[in-house]
Amino acid sequence: MSRTKEVKQRVRTARGRTLSSTRWLERQLNDPYVHKAKAEGYRARSAYKLLEVDAKHQLLRPGRRVVDLGAAPGSWSQVCARRGLPVVALDLEPVAPLAGVMTLQGDFRDDATVERLRAALGGPVDLVLSDMAAFATGQRLVDRLKAEELAELVLAFTDDVLAAGGDCLIKLVKGAEPVARAQALTRFRQVGFVRPPATRKDSSETFLIAKDRLPAG
Ligand SMILES: C[S@@+](CC[C@H](N)C(=O)[O-])C[C@H]1O[C@@H](n2cnc3c(N)ncnc32)[C@H](O)[C@@H]1O
Repeated sequence: MSRTKEVKQRVRTARGRTLSSTRWLERQLNDPYVHKAKAEGYRARSAYKLLEVDAKHQLLRPGRRVVDLGAAPGSWSQVCARRGLPVVALDLEPVAPLAGVMTLQGDFRDDATVERLRAALGGPVDLVLSDMAAFATGQRLVDRLKAEELAELVLAFTDDVLAAGGDCLIKLVKGAEPVARAQALTRFRQVGFVRPPATRKDSSETFLIAKDRLPAG
């Protein structure tokens, strides 16, 4: 993304505002993706991560049915809906209504939630997206194990819901790649990792991209 205006905005530390919230505000004000998301009506700057991955990997093909896990506030679902793809979206938090998107609230780690999700889908899908992120503890090992656990659950979920030939995009943290890769390789013909330009430079996130789901059995 080109930065035409290089004038950085500074935020004065106001009484009652912590240093970290001042830094967060400063980063938001100087982030071109935040401005673009606002101008284009996306609920979050993360929309551009999916758009950038799609520009390279063509995940959002016409007619595909999509599950969006960890969907709130809803920008990935918006991207899919704007392409005319039907979406079922799940999050711990409520996702405000979006045309073309069925939203569910619940914890993906609970069997009962997965059952509700399966019932809502009513059949196979072609694309499983997961931008789920467990609350970061800052302890690298703990955060890695949590990301590995979520990725494992998502990959197991693809066994039940993803049609042969379908694709999957899963957020990870750095360090979780080997375990997720090994589990994806038994299920998909192509497995790799992608860090779209919209991912912040200081972020530890990376995405597993698994393409062409092998037929079940
Ligand atoms: C980075 S945000 C997703 C942003 C979203 N893709 C968008 O573009 O608007 C991560 C989301 O994952 C959700 N999440 C984390 N763990 C979850 C879980 N176990 N089940 C469901 N949602 C979860 C969080 O509530 C949070 O809203």
